[in-house]
Amino acid sequence: MVEETLILIKPDAVAANNIGKILAIYEANGLKIIAMRMLIMNDQLAAKHYKEHIGKPFYEKLVTFMTSGPLVAAVLKGDNAIERVRSIHGATDPTQAEAGTIRKLFATDKTRNAVHASDSATSAKREIHVFFSEAEIF
Ligand code: CMP
Repeated sequence: MVEETLILIKPDAVAANNIGKILAIYEANGLKIIAMRMLIMNDQLAAKHYKEHIGKPFYEKLVTFMTSGPLVAAVLKGDNAIERVRSIHGATDPTQAEAGTIRKLFATDKTRNAVHASDSATSAKREIHVFFSEAEIF
């Protein structure tokens, strides 16, 4: 099934000059970039995007990091995109991520973990519209 999913290239990966390398991995896997923007997340946007994590012990650390510098938001489209992107990313904790995954290649720890991706069709639909309007999705 053709799906759309939201990805974020997080501030650690942007600062480390890894935007191009990460986008190239998606494209090499046959995923289409159908929307993209660079922005700095503020506390309000973080609360909207990460609303299911509000109140968790790692939330403050997550928001401090995610608002620390520019990130790249994009919508990827392709066959089985939601699950496929999650598998290309690897485990949240880079020490658990498989060889060749984006997090194994570029992440530092559970917070500075290079990328985010939607975890279900419901969250993809919601998260895409946190960052993009219909007119910005091609
Ligand atoms: P992400 O896919 O962006 O969604 C939620 C984020 O919270 C996750 O990636 C991690 O960066 C972060 N996260 C999840 N669990 C922990 C944890 N135990 N400690 C620190 N950060 C975490």
